[in-house]
Amino acid sequence: MSIRAICHYPDPVLTKKAQPVAEINDQIRTLVDDMVETMYAAPGVGLAAPQIGVLERVVVIDCGSKEQPELIRAINPEILEARGESNEEEGCLSVPGYYSCVKRSAWVRARYQTPEGEWVEREADGLLAVAFQHEIDHLDGHLFVDRLSSLKKSIFRKKYQRILEQQQEQL
Ligand code: NI
Repeated sequence: MSIRAICHYPDPVLTKKAQPVAEINDQIRTLVDDMVETMYAAPGVGLAAPQIGVLERVVVIDCGSKEQPELIRAINPEILEARGESNEEEGCLSVPGYYSCVKRSAWVRARYQTPEGEWVEREADGLLAVAFQHEIDHLDGHLFVDRLSSLKKSIFRKKYQRILEQQQEQL
């Protein structure tokens, strides 16, 4: 397993659509293992393959606690059904230092393949429902900041510019 470099906004790879995984082989399982290690090292609660520059439909999520991890390794994930509304604060490893509330569904039913190739269905609410939507968005080339109102987007651009400048100064 190895930790991969995380791509940051405005890297164009983050705007591209990821391809379905046709065959779950050792290469895909290594990708999943690397993503898990990269997510925990960051640390983050979710990571999608495009965030490490790989345009395949793979995400990893862990909304559990340190004492009780709840790792989800999802290949070809999709939302089958969504209900309700939520407006939770989100962040993203590809948009370091910026957080904002995003309108999403409060409950989802998702399905995905495990690294063993089995299809599983799972219902989720709360943080996990948000994580599924956020990570699957990455597979379609969307970031959480794309879902902000135009006013919030312009605030984001200014704030993020300052965050980038501060990071440059620290180098
Ligand atoms: Ni993200």
